[in-house]
Amino acid sequence: APADEPASFRAILVEDGRVEPRDEMPEGYRKTLVRQIAQHAHSEIIGMQPEGNWVSRAPSLRRKAILMAKVQDEAGHGLYLYAAAETLGVDRADLLDALHSGRQKYSSIFNYPTLTWADVGAIGWLVDGAAIVNQVPLCRCSYGPYARAMVRVCKEESFHQRQGFEILHTLAHGSQAQRQMAQDAVNRYWWPSLMMFGPPDDDSPNSAQSMAWGIKRFSNDDLRQRFIDMTVPQSEALGLTLPDDGLAWNEERGHYDFTPVDFTELFEVIRGNGPCNEQRMAHRVGAHEDGAWAREAAAAYAQKQAQKQAQ
Ligand code: 3HC
Repeated sequence: APADEPASFRAILVEDGRVEPRDEMPEGYRKTLVRQIAQHAHSEIIGMQPEGNWVSRAPSLRRKAILMAKVQDEAGHGLYLYAAAETLGVDRADLLDALHSGRQKYSSIFNYPTLTWADVGAIGWLVDGAAIVNQVPLCRCSYGPYARAMVRVCKEESFHQRQGFEILHTLAHGSQAQRQMAQDAVNRYWWPSLMMFGPPDDDSPNSAQSMAWGIKRFSNDDLRQRFIDMTVPQSEALGLTLPDDGLAWNEERGHYDFTPVDFTELFEVIRGNGPCNEQRMAHRVGAHEDGAWAREAAAAYAQKQAQKQAQ
C-alpha cells in the first residue's frame, strides 16, 4: 500500500467496508471523490435544462406532471450529491464556482438539444437507462455517503427510465409521423448515451486508481457493454431500431458486438464544443445570479436565528 495510506483505511477496503467522513483517508482518495461526486451533482442540475425545456409544451397534463416530477427529482439528486461532497470538507458554493468557471465538468450528454417531445422519451429511456447502469455499482462504492446517496437516486432513476420507455412506446405505436419522431430522437441520442460511460478503458486516466480504491467497481467499457446488452432487446420491444448496423449478438462473447464509438466527439463536447455547451452554462450562471437574493435571505435568516439562540 502507498506510504501515505493509513493502515485503518486499507483495512476497511480489504474487508470491502465503507469509509466514513471521519475515517482517515489518503488525500488522493478524498480529492478524487470530491471530483467525481461534484461533477455527478453538476450533471444532475445541468440535466434539468434539456428536459425543463418541454415542461410547458408537454402533450398532456399527465405527461406534464410526470416530467415536472422527474425534473424535480434531478434537482434532489443534485442536492444529495452536493451534501455527500460536503462530507469531504468542501463547500458547495466553491463547487458551483468551479462548475461556472469550467474548472469542473458535467456530463457531456446534457450538451445536446431536445428538439422534439420524443427527445424527452429518448432521454428517459437511454440517458437515465445509462445512468442506472453506471449508478447501481456506485451503491457499493467504498465511500459511505456516496454509496447511500446512490441507493435513493437509483430508485428514482428507475421511474425516469420507465416513463421514457412508455413515451417512446406510445409514439412508436402511433401515427407514422409519431413513429418517425421517436426514431429520429433515438438516432440522435444513441451514440451520445454510449459516451456517457466515459472514454475507452485504455484512455481513462482515473479508472485504475478509482478501481483500486473501490470507487469504480466496473470499467467504463464493461458498463457500456452492459448497457448495450440491456438496451438492444428493449429497442426490439419498442419496434424502433438503434442507429448502428454493426449491432449483432455474438454467441461466443455472450454480448452484442457494436461499431466502435467515435470518442473524438466525446472529447470535443468535453472541451466545450458540443451543440449546447454555451447555452447550458449561460443559463446555469444566470440562474445562479438570479437566485443570489434567496441565498442572501436564507443566510440572514440563519444568522438571526443563531443570534436569538445565543441570547
Ligand atoms: N462527460 C463529461 N466528462 C467526462 C465524461 C462524460 N461523459 N466521461 C469522462 N469524463 C471526464 C472525466 O470526468 C475525467 O475528467 P476529470 O479527471 O477532469 O474529472 C476524464 O473525462 C477522463 O475520464 P475517466 O474515465 O478517467 O474519469 P472517471 O474515472 O471519473 O470516469 C465517469 C468517468 C464514468 C463519468 C465517472 O466519473 C462516474 O462514474 N461518475 C459518476 C456518474 C456520473 O457522473 N454520471 C453523469 C451522468 S448524468 C446522470 O447520471 C444524471 C441522471 O439523472 C441522468
